[in-house]
Amino acid sequence: MLEQLKPDAVLFVGDLGEGDLKLIKDLKTISIPSAVILGNHDRGIDHTGERLRTSLSLLDDLHCGWDLKNWTSPNIAVVGARPCSAGGGFYLSSEVQAVYGSVSLTESANRIAVAAKKAPVNKPLIILAHSGPVGLGSEASSPCGRDWRLPAIDWGDKDLALAIDQIRKYRIPDLVVFGHMHHQLKRGGGNRRTFVKDKWGTLYLNAACVPRRVKDNLGNMLSHLSWVEILDNQINHISHRWFRSDTSVAYQETLFIRDEHIQ
Ligand SMILES: [Fe+2]
Repeated sequence: MLEQLKPDAVLFVGDLGEGDLKLIKDLKTISIPSAVILGNHDRGIDHTGERLRTSLSLLDDLHCGWDLKNWTSPNIAVVGARPCSAGGGFYLSSEVQAVYGSVSLTESANRIAVAAKKAPVNKPLIILAHSGPVGLGSEASSPCGRDWRLPAIDWGDKDLALAIDQIRKYRIPDLVVFGHMHHQLKRGGGNRRTFVKDKWGTLYLNAACVPRRVKDNLGNMLSHLSWVEILDNQINHISHRWFRSDTSVAYQETLFIRDEHIQ
């Protein structure tokens, strides 16, 4: 479907499939500019870190953990946050430690901020993370709110929030896009809020629609993508879109239109 839709770029927010190497190899065949941040479900069940190491090796420069993709077409800079995050503040799994060593919270934040510092200030800066940052709310329905256990708390990442604070000293990140926290809430809690704009103007998009493919009332398969449009180097439009197999849009939830306020 991506090859038919032909977006200018595609960002993968992780949890691709428990270390499924075939899926990772498939990503390498996409001809569209792409960036991937691996999620906590991409470590594989392998505490030695070998499966994660293999996945990273296969992804090669597609993976942008703690790194910058400075693209010219499209004209955006994408900075990856900490790989394989499970949210909840800051925690390094044994797999991540095996591959990357024992990285502290401040070191992780510094790595994200240093990568962002290399991005030209005149092009949109997008941060790609598996888990969003702390600070987006502590309700179960908040973009990173814990919904599977009481009490509901802010389950975002502290290192990412610290990095954004550091970046904000010289520029405002345009967009932070992440996954991990499923849109549909546990315990019959309805749906999560998936979009926030902070007081500095940074946009936060939770793209974790699970399952990403569903059938409509007529039995037609629909595929979800979070959709971002950029115009004149500014984020112009953000929505969740469900596409039919012929790539027509069956349903759209508009989250943001520049200069318009959407409830
Ligand atoms: Fe996850």
